[in-house]
Amino acid sequence: MFDFIIDYYPMLLKGTGITILLALLTVVSGTLIGILISILRFNNKGIIGKLLNKLADAYIAFFRGTPLMIQLFIFWFGIPQLCGIRLKPVGFIPAEFIVGAIALAINSGAYVTEIFRAGIQAVEVGQMEAGRSLGLSERQTLKHIILPQAIKNVLPALGNEFVVIIKESAIVSVIGLADLMYNADKVTAATFNAFGVYIVAALIYFLLTSGCSKLVTIFERRLQQDA
Ligand code: ARG
Repeated sequence: MFDFIIDYYPMLLKGTGITILLALLTVVSGTLIGILISILRFNNKGIIGKLLNKLADAYIAFFRGTPLMIQLFIFWFGIPQLCGIRLKPVGFIPAEFIVGAIALAINSGAYVTEIFRAGIQAVEVGQMEAGRSLGLSERQTLKHIILPQAIKNVLPALGNEFVVIIKESAIVSVIGLADLMYNADKVTAATFNAFGVYIVAALIYFLLTSGCSKLVTIFERRLQQDA
């Protein structure tokens, strides 16, 4: 059942490496996008502020409201067609990896923005009033009173998003990036052992997601101790 591992483990390991790299890159850039859009959303003064706010809302609605697979296809097939370009690898980085990371990060950014909004809204309004009545400006209250509490609120959901990204990254296999999922398909095709191969691939994904959850829990505990 599992003797294919002897011959094919390098392929599965390589795929795992790509999956880890892709997920790491996505998590970092998705969070950065989330922070950026959240800042944009905070400021709705003036016509430009309002316009940017509307754009941010549309971005979030679109990327949370349509399948990630379609978004990936729009980036991989649609945009190159529209612009009349052929995607090429950059150095040794395959085009599939770059496009996959961009699509995943932009998708995750929309979810992260919503996570941040919920985290900030969960901080009682009284906290802003308290800060203001102590003579802090709105900005200072936000920075020193609201955000430190919001960050703690946000961590569990953000950790969950990281786990989701590890799993959802498997979708890049459909555009031909040789991640864990793609290589598992290849090994299945070579061995006709669908059950064994997919069980092993599932186990590897499980190791990655549970490792990620553990890390997030440790980080949360640390923050709680600091409080
Ligand atoms: N399978 C879902 C979709 O196609 C995944 C969305 C990604 N989720 C996330 N939290 N980034 O829409």
